Amino acid sequence: MTSDSAAPATAPGAPRFRALLPEPAADVDLAAAYAYPAGLAGPWLRANMVASADGGAWGPSGRTAELSSPPDRALMSVLRAHADVVLAGAATARIEGYRPVRPREVWGDLRAGRTATPPLALVTRTLDVHPDVLEKAPPEAPTIVFTTESAPAERRRAAAARGADVVVAGEESVAPEAVLAELGARGLVRVLTEGGPHLLAEFAAAGLLDELCLTVSPHLLGPAAARIVAGGAPSHTQDLRLAAVLESEDSLFLRYRKAFDDPDRTTG
Ligand SMILES: NC(=O)c1ccc[n+]([C@@H]2O[C@H](COP(=O)([O-])OP(=O)(O)OC[C@H]3O[C@@H](n4cnc5c(N)ncnc54)[C@H](OP(=O)(O)O)[C@@H]3O)[C@@H](O)[C@H]2O)c1
Repeated sequence: MTSDSAAPATAPGAPRFRALLPEPAADVDLAAAYAYPAGLAGPWLRANMVASADGGAWGPSGRTAELSSPPDRALMSVLRAHADVVLAGAATARIEGYRPVRPREVWGDLRAGRTATPPLALVTRTLDVHPDVLEKAPPEAPTIVFTTESAPAERRRAAAARGADVVVAGEESVAPEAVLAELGARGLVRVLTEGGPHLLAEFAAAGLLDELCLTVSPHLLGPAAARIVAGGAPSHTQDLRLAAVLESEDSLFLRYRKAFDDPDRTTG
């Protein structure tokens, strides 16, 4: 993977990462390590998820806070800086209290030539989304709401009136392929999904996941928590290759890619 933008400065006191793969390194430049492939010809879907050592995707609070850590948050920030759009299921947005992405000084010029922050794209049937997610997004990066024909028309109109870019992308269910096509049509090709497990399972089942960034967090949660994929999407098996392994403060940061990349994915 090659870097297509300059790396930001590392903030003082920021977590340090060492690499085990692809080459051992004592101090990793996260921005360079997590650049998207250069010259993408269409959407590239990267997921960023965290799991406990025993595979749980949320903690006793029902949120990911107990699993996260300063290094995990540092990585999340870099991944958001690289992304053209941050895609999430509406339940994650509600439970994790999503708001429009805020710019970070440590991003340096990672977003040069793009909007200061990536827009959020939320998938929802209910359109039950916090008003700030729609109203507080910058006009140049409005929140994109993917919803269904079956969603109440007045809710769709209300979301649009609050500034959202409302896209109907399915009758009863938003189609993952339609989401990526619509994002690509907007020039948003570096797609970062932050889940949750139900949404991720749908994109994985459709064979659309190009890359999985998985934080393995040093905790045991027991059987109550779901895995990073959940719900009724059909099971989909796919071979992956381990592209990178980083370590910081007892967490592992694994980066998997499809075992067989389509050579037509990039123009460069
Ligand atoms: N471990 C991790 O990395 C990680 C990451 C993210 C979240 N989480 C945790 O996971 C939980 C939330 O995730 P989740 O899996 O329950 O939910 P989710 O995937 O975030 O969101 C599910 C919701 O998204 C909408 N949706 C999903 N697929 C749809 C489709 N095809 N068409 C239309 N709408 C669709 C629906 O929203 P409506 O209900 O609005 O219709 C559905 O209820 C929280 O506990 C969160 O803390 C963990």
